[in-house]
Amino acid sequence: MEIAASREGGVLEIVLARAHKKNALTADMYAELAATLREAEKDENIRAVLFRGNGDSFCAGNDLEDFAANPPASADSPVYRFLNTASQATKPFVAAVHGSAVGIGTTLLLHCELVYASEDARFALPFTRLGLVPEFASSYLLPLFAGYHRAAELLLLGEPFDARVAHEAGFVTRVVPKELVVETARDAARKLAALPPKSVQRTKILMRGPHAAAVELQMKAEAEWFRPMLGEPAARAALEAFLARRKG
Ligand code: COA
Repeated sequence: MEIAASREGGVLEIVLARAHKKNALTADMYAELAATLREAEKDENIRAVLFRGNGDSFCAGNDLEDFAANPPASADSPVYRFLNTASQATKPFVAAVHGSAVGIGTTLLLHCELVYASEDARFALPFTRLGLVPEFASSYLLPLFAGYHRAAELLLLGEPFDARVAHEAGFVTRVVPKELVVETARDAARKLAALPPKSVQRTKILMRGPHAAAVELQMKAEAEWFRPMLGEPAARAALEAFLARRKG
């Protein structure tokens, strides 16, 4: 199981469990994540969702090998099912981030309410370097949270950045020592789960609501460019360079 889900009290803990690949996400994992989140939405006993990664990283983004072999063919492909389900969720999302958080490993955090990052966390939004454009409405949400110019630096240059920068960019709630990051996130998720669920969920809906239509539109606009660009020379060269590095 490369996605492990477990319940404790009202908290659903979703673990990205593909440590040997830094928890890079394949189409099968997206399908599993989408199905798990859909179930969580329906299950009134689940009051908070916690994301974390196994091994030394949170998530290295899309699995580039899988992406090259099976590019998302339509708006109904597993990756888009996951993006849509996660962006429309009403249960509060908490994340514990350590090690690498690349691509969707960072953009997922823009859809979380509480994000705890360890001091060693390294983030990156390498879309331009891969000949692609941002996804998961990050081209809308990051400017919203970080301000236009800070977001422009992170999204246009695509260079890695540390937890302090992520905190300043507004999408990391708190930076904590590495050994405390999972427990801190679990504590926060348990606190959310202990509160009246309707109040918590409706507060999330109210905070996200003013941006919901824009997020949906932006995800469509991003996907319209992202999918064809995967087949264009810049992205193909970047994917080939990544695969060649592996073989070399
Ligand atoms: N897709 C597929 N495989 C990936 C991957 C990804 N996004 N990220 C890491 N891996 C694999 C590596 O190929 C390697 O596999 P191997 O042992 O079979 O060769 C394994 O995971 C370990 O990665 P490695 O690069 O050796 O670890 P590292 O600690 O030196 O670096 C990262 C970690 C995340 C910084 C680096 O792997 C990386 O930059 N990955 C690509 C990130 C990316 O561009 N994601 C796409 C965003 S859209």
